[in-house]
Amino acid sequence: MGCFSCFFHRRAHPPKGFPQFEDELSDVQNLKLYSYKELRMATDDFSPANKIGEGGFGPVYWGRLKHGKYAAIKVLSAESKQGAREFLTEIKVIYEIEHENLAKLRGCCVEGDHRILVYDYIENNSLAQTLLGNGHSSIQFSWRTRTKICIGVAKGLAYLHEEVRPHIVHRDIKASNILLDKDLTAKISDFGLAKLLPANMTHVSTRVAGTIGYLAPEYAIRGQLTRKADVYSFGVLLIEIVSGRCNTNSLLPLEDQFILERTWDLYERNKLVELVDTSMHGDFDAEEACKYLKIGLLCTQDISKLRPMMSTVVKMLSGQKEIDEHKITKPGLISDFMDLKIRSNPNKTASANHDPKKNTDTSISSGSDNAEHSLASSNSTTPSTMRFTDAWDQTP
Ligand SMILES: Nc1ncnc2c1ncn2[C@@H]1O[C@H](COP(=O)(O)OP(=O)(O)O)[C@@H](O)[C@H]1O
Ligand SMILES: [Mg+2]
Repeated sequence: MGCFSCFFHRRAHPPKGFPQFEDELSDVQNLKLYSYKELRMATDDFSPANKIGEGGFGPVYWGRLKHGKYAAIKVLSAESKQGAREFLTEIKVIYEIEHENLAKLRGCCVEGDHRILVYDYIENNSLAQTLLGNGHSSIQFSWRTRTKICIGVAKGLAYLHEEVRPHIVHRDIKASNILLDKDLTAKISDFGLAKLLPANMTHVSTRVAGTIGYLAPEYAIRGQLTRKADVYSFGVLLIEIVSGRCNTNSLLPLEDQFILERTWDLYERNKLVELVDTSMHGDFDAEEACKYLKIGLLCTQDISKLRPMMSTVVKMLSGQKEIDEHKITKPGLISDFMDLKIRSNPNKTASANHDPKKNTDTSISSGSDNAEHSLASSNSTTPSTMRFTDAWDQTP
């Protein structure tokens, strides 16, 4: 079995078992190709007990690799399958991207029909489960920890947008794609994955990936995808991190359901500090927290050109650059375009079993393509879905 998982070196001989990929892999160093058998063993035959989550691309399993290293093993679903050569070409691009705030791809499996990605396992789960989850996390998110996470995510995104050539638009910045390592350093996951979808699968390759509350209106409605769509999503995430609440929550009174609307309202009334997470018991720098919320508003402005580049955001967050308050204009809200307000069901308002601050999101799914522009309300266990099948990719 050992012969299947070989390291590749520049101009190395083709690895035993994979001579057919000699051309694709000739200029990649150390990308590991795993055999299906090896990954099956690592995950106890992809046992449900090892499953740690499932997103738009398919299930993710925790696994223990041969040398004892822990991995997150992402099995791409049937609809994400593309030819082995095409797949490896994209994998190479993702593999070569390295940054402290980006989750590292270790290798993949391209045996037969299988398309599987192997990442370093990141110990402390995602922000969705810890900060915005239902209170099962033991992590204390102090103000310092939050600023470190925000700056880390901003740096990782600035790297994808401004350092990597050609630049990468993430498309799916959201709390569940922000993983935390043992030191609570933020690692952005899933960058570059949109490119793994086969181009001929129009309903897949043109769909909008993501969760509705994070989506820039111009992307969700018109499919205009630029780096500024990521900046918008980052702005929403930033406000979530400062407030400790999910961007959409149908359990709250109507005027509070959408965090951006609430933030804008408080900003106009000069009461932004009311949004800061009460679980810090007042132990935070109020001026800085309000500055972070204002940066969130700068990032989510309706006119995408007005949103700052991510490198500017890094400077503003870390205090190297002042923010110009007069520049803040109203956020873009999908609900302004379509009647997406999730009407509260009076029987469903915050109950004792639910923390009204926590996650009750509404997501755009990656499923079949027969329902255009449909949305229903959701709760935390059964998120409803919305599909935009007429959106198109305009990655510049
Ligand atoms: N590298 C990783 N380390 C640890 N956990 C991970 C890793 N990648 C993904 N996960 C977990 O698997 C879950 C599912 O991931 P994914 O398929 O990307 O879907 P989504 O991002 O929509 O939640 C994530 O929410 C996260 O909890
Ligand atoms: Mg993910």
